[in-house]
Amino acid sequence: MPIIIKTENEIEKMRVAGKLASQVLEIIGTHIVPGVTTDELNNICHDYIVNTQGAIPAPLNYRGFPKSICTSINQTVCHGIPSDKKLKSGDIINVDITVIKDGYHGDTSKMFCVGEVSPHAKRLVKITQEAMYLGIKQVKQGTTLGDIGHAIQKHAETNRYSVVREFCGHGIGKSFHEDPHVLHYGKAGDGEALEAGMIITVEPMLNQGKRYVKVLADGWTAVTKDRSLSAQWEHTVLVTEHGYEILTLRHEEMSLA
Ligand code: MF3
Ligand code: CO
Ligand code: CO
Repeated sequence: MPIIIKTENEIEKMRVAGKLASQVLEIIGTHIVPGVTTDELNNICHDYIVNTQGAIPAPLNYRGFPKSICTSINQTVCHGIPSDKKLKSGDIINVDITVIKDGYHGDTSKMFCVGEVSPHAKRLVKITQEAMYLGIKQVKQGTTLGDIGHAIQKHAETNRYSVVREFCGHGIGKSFHEDPHVLHYGKAGDGEALEAGMIITVEPMLNQGKRYVKVLADGWTAVTKDRSLSAQWEHTVLVTEHGYEILTLRHEEMSLA
């Protein structure tokens, strides 16, 4: 499938969907405390998306996914399924939100620290966020997908982390996952050139140990093979002539990004 260039009208709808997804991450933060279950987080987000935002949680029933959000704790790389498991102090957790509004998708995730978290876990969380921003900063008309992957891989490996290869960013719009595949590793100059009006996600997963993952028997939960910690951050990003616009930016990031 070719990469879809969005019209100005579609871009406006993607701005709305992106803003809604970012707002879910803003309201869930205060609930992420020791003792809360990931099912409770799922229910709060589901209720907010459906009843406050008048939107649809895209993960629910997507290819059989059973819940409205993904919650990936510690050694879980991505696609963790909310359950009755309680968070405990020291955990790191990724909450990944995708909403559909007026037919268009907004997709974003962030890491949260639960209670007191060790310095090594905090470092992984911080370097992974930096890697995402360095990837996003490559985005503009004319740069290539390889430029994004290279920037992310370089920052990860310079800091002695590995980049997960099995999952990547993606085009997004009317569909949850569109072309292209946005790899989080690669060589500068490789791959397709970006064009203004494309919308992609950048969502690197970095592991403290080796890059290898395995998917659990539930068919979704991806964990590190060596059980080392993993972190992920994600934004939905519009390619513009001279750079990018982060469609899922939160207020807390306005100075960072
Ligand atoms: N939100 C994920 C992504 O960033 C995809 C989750 S698929 C699901 O692409 F089914 F697990 F929700
Ligand atoms: Co995504
Ligand atoms: Co996502």
